[in-house]
Amino acid sequence: MRSKRPLTASTSTRRLVPGLPLSQTVISASACQVLLAKYAHLLEKERNYSILSVFEDNVYEIIVIAHTSKKSSIYIIGKTLGKGGCGAVKLAQNLVTGDLCSVKVIKPKSERALRVLPEKETLEVLNRLVDYVAFYDEEHPYALEYLFMPYYHGPSLFRHVYEIDKTLPIDDIGYCRSKKSLPMDEVIKLAFELAKAIKELHNKNRAHFDLNLSNVILTDAMDAKLVVIDFGASSHIKKWQDNGLVGTYGYIPPDKQSEADPLLKAIDIFALGVMFSEMATSHNYQLTLRNILKNNAESTPDITLDDLREAMPDVLTTDALSHVESKSKTKEFYELIQAMLSEDPNDRPTIQQVFQKLERLAYGQFIKRVSSLLIHNLFDGVSSGGSTSPRGITPPSSPSVLRGRRHTHTHADNSVHLIASVTQSDKIHDVDRIQREDEALSDGVYPDTPRPK
Ligand SMILES: Nc1ncnc2c1ncn2[C@@H]1O[C@H](COP(=O)(O)OP(=O)(O)O)[C@@H](O)[C@H]1O
Ligand SMILES: [Mg+2]
Repeated sequence: MRSKRPLTASTSTRRLVPGLPLSQTVISASACQVLLAKYAHLLEKERNYSILSVFEDNVYEIIVIAHTSKKSSIYIIGKTLGKGGCGAVKLAQNLVTGDLCSVKVIKPKSERALRVLPEKETLEVLNRLVDYVAFYDEEHPYALEYLFMPYYHGPSLFRHVYEIDKTLPIDDIGYCRSKKSLPMDEVIKLAFELAKAIKELHNKNRAHFDLNLSNVILTDAMDAKLVVIDFGASSHIKKWQDNGLVGTYGYIPPDKQSEADPLLKAIDIFALGVMFSEMATSHNYQLTLRNILKNNAESTPDITLDDLREAMPDVLTTDALSHVESKSKTKEFYELIQAMLSEDPNDRPTIQQVFQKLERLAYGQFIKRVSSLLIHNLFDGVSSGGSTSPRGITPPSSPSVLRGRRHTHTHADNSVHLIASVTQSDKIHDVDRIQREDEALSDGVYPDTPRPK
């Protein structure tokens, strides 16, 4: 048994991902109970432990976190989900509840405050910090830290967009075998979900600073649901300034403070623009990147806007705009991406602007037309007339609606009721029809107009 002295421990409680199949858990529910019985006595003590435990011929790490609030947690650490610059992300399971989570185990290094705290703070701000513990001992003069967060099941957006060759190393030229071609409707929906996630972050005055397709997990590919992960480079905008890049906190004039925010956030806007372009293009951008790196083994050259345009010309050039139908969703989307990739950060749209545009492109027209239809029918359901109906919608008193009548009602109240109920079914019919019309009206690339939830 290896135990370490606690450094700090804090937590925010949050329900984890329940109900995943057993193959997705670290150990079975009964095994959880066995291990819990073995280590339950540690929960009583106000100390944190990292224990190596042999169970069914496997060696597992068990983490016991004692919270001052007398609430304690005990986790078993499972397989590695991914490895990166600052350590590994592993699957973990709460032995008490059986719930899964993921844990980022950060290797001890010297610049702890800069490395770990921003990620922990961002997870806290987003209400995604499940648990946290740091240890240090003679071997590790700096903290070995564990950031517990929700586990998200699904492929990365990178895997969704590229066909990869798993037999090759990740930086190999041939690793991204080909760029998949996603329907434009799906791309716009994914872009909208990404903008929604970054809007939440920017609204809390934090920026991600490391947005790319690998830092997004697609939790529901059918419904374009995703989560942005990896806040290792993230920061509070003001603290970023504190780090000497813009000025010193307390000495920056108010005009500069407010001016700095959108400019720093514009770093994320640019990265999002590259991601949107990568999703929409038919070109293999990753192949270009790997080629550049291969040809410059000694250094990593800057990627210029010209390089980007050359790599994804079907989305990023003025020529690309002239090739898509005017007033189409595709054209508006390409124009948005090009604005997001403006050289001058002042010219890039804010995340609110990106979000609003994508919301309209993904859902707007449909919502607008359905709501006008509902308002129209609400009025016409209780009166018999209505000459100002929206295009293509038949007023309830017209012959097409009256054809739906099955009975003759003479009582005044009943006839009002009948008209209202016929209007109700007509409404459903018309919503479907409008959606079909919208599909036909769109520029032919959108077989499935997304429905708002
Ligand atoms: N919450 C999570 N749920 C599921 N998998 C995750 C989670 N967080 C990270 N991963 C996996 O671990 C990999 C590395 O995590 P990340 O936070 O991106 O660390 P790094 O800073 O090392 O890139 C990710 O690409 C992903 O595959
Ligand atoms: Mg990452």
